[in-house]
Amino acid sequence: MNQAISSPSLQAPKAIHLKDYLPPAFLVQQVDLCFRLDDHHTRVISRLQLQRNPARKEHDLPLVLQGQQLQLIELKLDGRTLSSSDYELTDEQLTLTGVPDSLVLESEVEIDPLSNTALEGLYQSSGNFCTQCEAEGFRRITFYPDRPDVLARFTTRIEADQSRFPVLLSNGNPIERGELPDGHHFVTWEDPFPKPAYLFALVAGQLHPVKDTYTTLSGRQVALEVWVEKENLHKCDHALRSLKAAMQWDEQTYGREYDLDIYMIVAVNDFNMGAMENKGLNIFNSSCVLADHRSETDMAFHRVESVVAHEYFHNWSGNRVTCRDWFQLSLKEGFTVFRDQQFSADQHSPAVERIQQVAMLRTAQFAEDAGPTAHPVRPESYIEINNFYTLTVYEKGAEVVRMLSELVGRDTFRKGSDLYFERFDGQAVTVEDFVACMAEVSGLDLSQFMRWYSQAGTPQLTAESHYNPTARTFTLTLRQHTPATPGQDLKEPLLIPVKLGLVGPSGQDLPMEVNGELWGQERVVHLKEQEQTWTFHNLDAEPVPSLLRGFSAPVRLLLDRSPEQLAFLMTADSDGFNRWDAGQQLALLAIRELINQQQCGAAMMLNPALIQAYRQLLDAQVTDPAILAEMLQLPSEAYIAEQYDQVDVDAIHLARDYARKTLATALYPAFLKLYQQFAKNQAWSAEAAAVAGRRLKNTCLGWLVATESEEALQLAQRQFEQADNMTDQLAALICLAHAEDTTSGDPALKAFALQWAHDPLVMDSWFSAQVTRPHPDALERVKLLMAHPAFSLKNPNKVRALIGAFVNQNRHNFHRRDGSGYALLADTVIELNRINPQIAARLVIPLTRFRRMDDYRKGLMKNELERIRAEKLSPDLFEVIEKSLA
Ligand code: PHE
Ligand code: ZN
Repeated sequence: MNQAISSPSLQAPKAIHLKDYLPPAFLVQQVDLCFRLDDHHTRVISRLQLQRNPARKEHDLPLVLQGQQLQLIELKLDGRTLSSSDYELTDEQLTLTGVPDSLVLESEVEIDPLSNTALEGLYQSSGNFCTQCEAEGFRRITFYPDRPDVLARFTTRIEADQSRFPVLLSNGNPIERGELPDGHHFVTWEDPFPKPAYLFALVAGQLHPVKDTYTTLSGRQVALEVWVEKENLHKCDHALRSLKAAMQWDEQTYGREYDLDIYMIVAVNDFNMGAMENKGLNIFNSSCVLADHRSETDMAFHRVESVVAHEYFHNWSGNRVTCRDWFQLSLKEGFTVFRDQQFSADQHSPAVERIQQVAMLRTAQFAEDAGPTAHPVRPESYIEINNFYTLTVYEKGAEVVRMLSELVGRDTFRKGSDLYFERFDGQAVTVEDFVACMAEVSGLDLSQFMRWYSQAGTPQLTAESHYNPTARTFTLTLRQHTPATPGQDLKEPLLIPVKLGLVGPSGQDLPMEVNGELWGQERVVHLKEQEQTWTFHNLDAEPVPSLLRGFSAPVRLLLDRSPEQLAFLMTADSDGFNRWDAGQQLALLAIRELINQQQCGAAMMLNPALIQAYRQLLDAQVTDPAILAEMLQLPSEAYIAEQYDQVDVDAIHLARDYARKTLATALYPAFLKLYQQFAKNQAWSAEAAAVAGRRLKNTCLGWLVATESEEALQLAQRQFEQADNMTDQLAALICLAHAEDTTSGDPALKAFALQWAHDPLVMDSWFSAQVTRPHPDALERVKLLMAHPAFSLKNPNKVRALIGAFVNQNRHNFHRRDGSGYALLADTVIELNRINPQIAARLVIPLTRFRRMDDYRKGLMKNELERIRAEKLSPDLFEVIEKSLA
């Protein structure tokens, strides 16, 4: 397709390809920066010591520096001022030809941070300056070879008005500070570790620290500082506790120590992502660092802990060893997500952690893999790298690392990671380098495994089994197939680790014997071919296979299992994850029957097997409230939709809703008993048991309120009024706000807004609670709330909380047949295209997933995409829109 013709965008941005990678022509030894901070007229003075890269010395290559939205004031080469005829300057780059092999380039540029609403480069948030340089934000600060394989030492001098900006931070250690004329002051920072420009950071403003210290394994003292606005000082303890736990865990689990004398975290309110691992100076979305039990939920506490750990772990997997180019993004992100998942599993319940990860992966990531923007864990090309900070690169990337660790074993994996960190410390490397370390220490041939990095799409795994009572054998045939994805029609078989067991009739795992070899009760088989068969011997009765235990590979498991088999596995499977999944599959089966009944105009009738299974769950003694709470979650509408090639959003919603109400009504007394048991004498505590208890209690409350009974609504109202913590208060608020009666939630919503008007993070929850209402007035509420004084399109958290929550979590209302959901999203995206391209390109995604919708909706959705396409688009949005309309 010719993009230049098909798109009205004036200049079609160009794609960059992995196969075109070349090492940089010049390397940077040293960068000395000086910032004169000013709202609209910040000056950035840079001194670069550059040298030709020996790896490319054969050519007399020009020096190319990236630079965007910079006003060049002055340029000097080896002390000599250059005139505009000495260089070539475009909107994107500065080129100098015929320069010496070694040179000093000094530049002065002016930038406008206060007008920067893209939140990339240097910008202001709540009156404070901050930076975001990953992936390519540094080029919006100064001219630079802005690519991750150029590593340099940085010093940073920051000058600013002392009263407005008393705190001046950058990477590394402070080495000098002093007063300047006119009430200004300065601080100079030095980072001893060479780093790519994407890890640069600067912060300036009125911030306050909460301090702590950590003594490393080798006995070094590290100062820990969390910098926040004054009103948030009481919300920092949890982040600091999490940071210390992460530091210790990385020492114990990976043998990795922190390397600077100071580690700083700064909370900012306007941030495109969760957080950023800048060397020694992490910058965080305030939603991922602040936590107080009165204003944040248990879920937020968990998020803070895992994001703090994630960014900390990047200090080795990302900073000390970084990426050669942005195609290798998953090298740092997949590995670091895997590390933060291991950390969370070690801090909490491994089964619950795994359940929650997989629930997210196989709804959201699988949907990405099945949509128009599907891409491999390591993409081969991109137009805008910002579009590739995806669930595929992060979450599927983590699954790929998890499979590696399963394949080589935990101890060998540690040897491989030791080798990787040691061999590549201070370098910018590739996915091959990482996998080669694992191959080397394990002796395994991982060449077929590399396809996980290059093939997009979710593999489908089907299984067939047969029991022969006379031969006492059980044969299991596994087949794999990966469906075509855009640009990748043919797929090769992958190496899929399938962890399995055979469950005998009385519920115990049977010893497995294959070809005279004793396998024990659990085994990881390697499916390498398109189809492979295993025969198990000496089985006296037909077993039920338990496949893909712990979700050992990110695949779609297609199995025909009866409700009886699923109900059996739900209690008998020795694998906690598979017990949960059996319950999910049983519920899915029942909901699919309801969808069928609706589609053929029959009355809905819920499969009694599901009611029976739920009754059993509720009647049993509660041994693990956290797991029980997970078992009592019905599959989400998004996950149900994932099972269909043709998605009927209305039928899915009605069916799930019917199942929910039927179960709630049938089991009301049991839910009530459980609710009351866990609602008793519950003063807030951070203990795991208390967290699990709240989750179970609030799950039960949700079920009770599903009946719309007066009693249940009163319980919710009472919980709302009496709660001493946000988990309970918000759960009750959501129950009330989602009640069928339009007005029953109003008093609580009003009271909540009054109580929390001062806290923007809590107001985000208030927005989300209303627009995820399942009833048809939700869309009108979105429109109404967009005019609320606490809402702003310039703040990504607000956009996510209001519009994002509506389009992603309120599917049937987003897909209203009158098309008003689509129009609302398109209008918003068009406006955001000018304000914040990254956020616009993310928000639009649900509109691009039209392929599985009915023809009528498909038409409406495409029309809105065409309407967006007619605008002058940012490269971010251009790429997503073109790919979805291709
Ligand atoms: N590198 C960050 C992380 O994974 C994410 C990020 C990407 C933040 C780009 C900002 C911009 O932790
Ligand atoms: Zn990361």
